[in-house]
Amino acid sequence: MSIHAIVLAAGQGTRMRSRLPKVLHLLAGRPLLQHVLEAAVAAGVDARHVVIGHAGDQVRDTIVGESIQWVEQRQQLGTGHAVMQALPAVPDEATVLVLYGDVPLVRPETMRLLLDAAARGPALLSTFLQDPGAYGRIMRAPDGSLLGIVEYKDATPEQRDIREINTGLLACPAAILRDCLNRCGNDNAQGEYYLTDVIGMAVADGLPVSAVIADDASEVAGVNDRVQLAALERVLQRRQSEDLMRGGVTLADPARLDIRGSLCCAADVRIDINCVFEGRVRIAEGASIGPNCVIRDSEIGPGSVIEANSMLDKAVVGSGVQVGPFARLRPGTELGDKSKVGNFVEIKKARLGEGSKANHLSYIGDALIGAGVNIGAGTITCNYDGVHKHQTIIEDGAFIGSDTQLVAPVTVGAGAVVGAGTTVTRDVSPDSLATRRARQREVAGWSSRRRS
Ligand code: UD1
Ligand code: CA
Repeated sequence: MSIHAIVLAAGQGTRMRSRLPKVLHLLAGRPLLQHVLEAAVAAGVDARHVVIGHAGDQVRDTIVGESIQWVEQRQQLGTGHAVMQALPAVPDEATVLVLYGDVPLVRPETMRLLLDAAARGPALLSTFLQDPGAYGRIMRAPDGSLLGIVEYKDATPEQRDIREINTGLLACPAAILRDCLNRCGNDNAQGEYYLTDVIGMAVADGLPVSAVIADDASEVAGVNDRVQLAALERVLQRRQSEDLMRGGVTLADPARLDIRGSLCCAADVRIDINCVFEGRVRIAEGASIGPNCVIRDSEIGPGSVIEANSMLDKAVVGSGVQVGPFARLRPGTELGDKSKVGNFVEIKKARLGEGSKANHLSYIGDALIGAGVNIGAGTITCNYDGVHKHQTIIEDGAFIGSDTQLVAPVTVGAGAVVGAGTTVTRDVSPDSLATRRARQREVAGWSSRRRS
């Protein structure tokens, strides 16, 4: 039996008040719809159909994923009508799983429960809400068996008192869904073709129908405006934080951590407050991240310490390395084991060998730096001549004095020393001393003469 997910994403989402289609708004760094499509894969669906309408091209161009079938719903005539647009591509023997592009936190396990329940007939996903708002209400007979769903706008005051609501998600054998939707009219308060009518029709046909009740309402919450989007962001961040802590990570405060992508941590990693992780980040055992760090698409080796307010982007950090506070590692940075990068040091497309140090106020770009190199405060690799970028090479054990400019392309040989304040424009031979300074002059008594 194959499973076909049909994801509804044609609505405009007016209440977002945005040029961006609702399902493209980001939750934990990824579009809402992307979350839904990935959860569907994790639930084991064989095919994914996405019904698009408003700004459909933009949605299609933004979402990533293989073999997604895009279906256009030209006019938004209701959820039943939306599902109908995708059904021609679904075989009768399949089971259909209807998902919403704006309900992003449904777990794959919950989708599985719904699919299992749909083995013989339609199965809906409901939940209980203190304040059921304008959701569709689940109608049950006194014995608890399902009767159908009534939309809020069509409901009587008594029906509006019902607290079990329709989340909108549903699973159903394709043949039954097709048959019911073909017979479904739009004679209701909104003049729409309601997907929800399928439940009542199946009951009337004497088919077995069932409900799966989600006990965590936040899992099935939808996004209609930015207030709800922000609320779900917190829910998802909390989920991610808890997964990390259960995996052996210490978080100074699980409420002050944001993961926008995937963060993979080994045991005994410590993360202080207000850190943001983007893209794919891997942190090895025992490493620690100070407060206010932003780390994107990077790897951090075992036992390394990233101090407060550092920013890492596409950087690879070895083991036992110390970074920051206030360090900026830009794409292409590779820090060897036990190296040190201190405050106000910017590194780009450069490798720092084992045990090398750049502790203060430097710019190291397009450079190859060997092992055991000391880079003094205020060192600058002048890598750009206004047209091209050039490389600086500093070999093992070299010592670069403070306030040095290295005008690339240039090489400082192994063990060489560059005196403080030197502008290096020619290669420095190994084991030599390079300086470029005017002799210091002294005028005795000058200062008191000036004052008098
Ligand atoms: C629907 C359910 C309601 C349920 C609620 C949960 C129906 C008739 N009602 O309400 O019982 O409590 O969801 O949120 O199904 N969409 C399309 N094309 C359309 C109409 C909608 O793609 O023609 C998409 C929307 O973009 C959205 C989803 O379907 O992602 C739900 O539509 P929405 O209008 O929010 O749902 P309601 O009709 O209010
Ligand atoms: Ca809605």
